[in-house]
Amino acid sequence: MQKEVVLSGIRPTGFLHLGNYFGAMRNYVRMQDEFNCYFFVADWHSLTTHPDTKALKASVHRVIAENIACGLDPEKVSLYVQSDVPEIAELYLYLNMLAYKGELEKVPTFKDKVRLQPDNVNAGLLTYPVLMAADILIHRAVKVPVGKDQEQHLEMARNFADRFNHRYGEVFPQPRPFNFSNNLVKILSLDGNGKMSKSENQMATIYLSDDDELIRKKIKKAKTDEGPSHDNAEKPDYIQNLFTLMELVSTKEVVEKFEADYNQCNIRYGDMKKQLAEDMAIFIKPIREKAATIQNDNAYLQKIMREGAEKARVSAKATINVVRESMGVKY
Ligand code: TRP
Repeated sequence: MQKEVVLSGIRPTGFLHLGNYFGAMRNYVRMQDEFNCYFFVADWHSLTTHPDTKALKASVHRVIAENIACGLDPEKVSLYVQSDVPEIAELYLYLNMLAYKGELEKVPTFKDKVRLQPDNVNAGLLTYPVLMAADILIHRAVKVPVGKDQEQHLEMARNFADRFNHRYGEVFPQPRPFNFSNNLVKILSLDGNGKMSKSENQMATIYLSDDDELIRKKIKKAKTDEGPSHDNAEKPDYIQNLFTLMELVSTKEVVEKFEADYNQCNIRYGDMKKQLAEDMAIFIKPIREKAATIQNDNAYLQKIMREGAEKARVSAKATINVVRESMGVKY
């Protein structure tokens, strides 16, 4: 039986953090045996918001390196850079004829970006969801592991696929949001303000590239309070977050000890943070070191990107042939 096609893209803006790791990367790694996976660096997408390309090369290399360091195996999956697959741009062009200005203008992420960069409301920004649909449909992917914030884009991809199929014949299956385990961990920011994020408070986000000292410093600063006022009290979300992190990187005994302390109102957050910081440092170190080694190995990176693009283009070319055939763009 043919494996189902899974696809996801990562914008090369900002550094990968714990939220990306536990919310996305770890999930991708678990998918790689069971599915036919395509993971790519969305460098074209980043141009819609980051026209300055000075840092682009280093960012693309870093994303590739960090993904491999997290456990993605380039032998098992197709790991590639979007701009190495020109067929995506061709499909984007066809899909643009099926996307309406009105619906694109209504997309909340577009409206957000207009507010953020009023001086650069470019057409690429408007058609961001069309390019994302092309990314997905080029491999006729059916499972797309994305966060909640991307689900509307995915719905648009389904609409464009439907419109194409309706007009030119059944070519595309419907891509659906997908997560390997149904209870994805949400990692909150250490200051208690929302999710860990690439762009907001850097000291409240733990990056996979942070060194031991920085990890200790950040965890030490994490928000806590006076402690629970009665036995078995409910945990405020910023305290629950520390326990969640602990469950992810510490031993069961350690977690149980601090749980018991909390439930009996004799938790010492200072001790808990110290323990968490040490366990977190041990957890992140091999990922950070492996990513750094890969980033410094240009020959290896070039090989991975070339082979990834070759694999991706086999599938992309096959789709473009079917697309052209069914549209009659073939003379
Ligand atoms: N828009 C996604 C984000 O900002 C990145 C992305 C681009 C993507 N193309 C994709 C995700 C295709 C899934 C599928 O996170």
